[in-house]
Amino acid sequence: MAKAPSVLLLNGPNLNLLGTREPEVYGHTTLAEIEATCRVRASELGLELDCRQSNHEGRLLDWIQEARGNHDAIILNPGAYSHTSIAIPDALKAVGLPVVELHLSNIHKREPFRQKSYVSAVAEGVICGFGPQGYVLALEAVAQLLKTRREA
Ligand code: DQA
Repeated sequence: MAKAPSVLLLNGPNLNLLGTREPEVYGHTTLAEIEATCRVRASELGLELDCRQSNHEGRLLDWIQEARGNHDAIILNPGAYSHTSIAIPDALKAVGLPVVELHLSNIHKREPFRQKSYVSAVAEGVICGFGPQGYVLALEAVAQLLKTRREA
């Protein structure tokens, strides 16, 4: 049987605080709960899932670089690095894996400085504004994307 496609789910700075961080914006669900839900959905979709979070840009970069050869797609919530980092989209481009960018909040409805994400230019698609459910939507999008590519 073919090996299950592997997805790297990366969360950036401050997302380890989900559940208590500005719940009026990000909700009450913790990152551990989101990851648990994603593991169940990934397994239903026939995907392997590797969940990681870091507050450090360099560590996120290392994980993105290491994804080549180890994973088939990346789901990324870059947190505030979405709006500041050039290195993250550069690394994603270098690695060349399909990327789904994700935000819990609808960044386009928020402060002007959040409305630009440098990551979007290298993403297959962007999901934002659906809270924790966005992670499941991202997994479903990735599963479909990988299936379409396999069949092409
Ligand atoms: C976020 C939106 C960013 O602007 C913010 O800095 C975050 C979380 C989101 O998931 O809505 O940390 O990426």
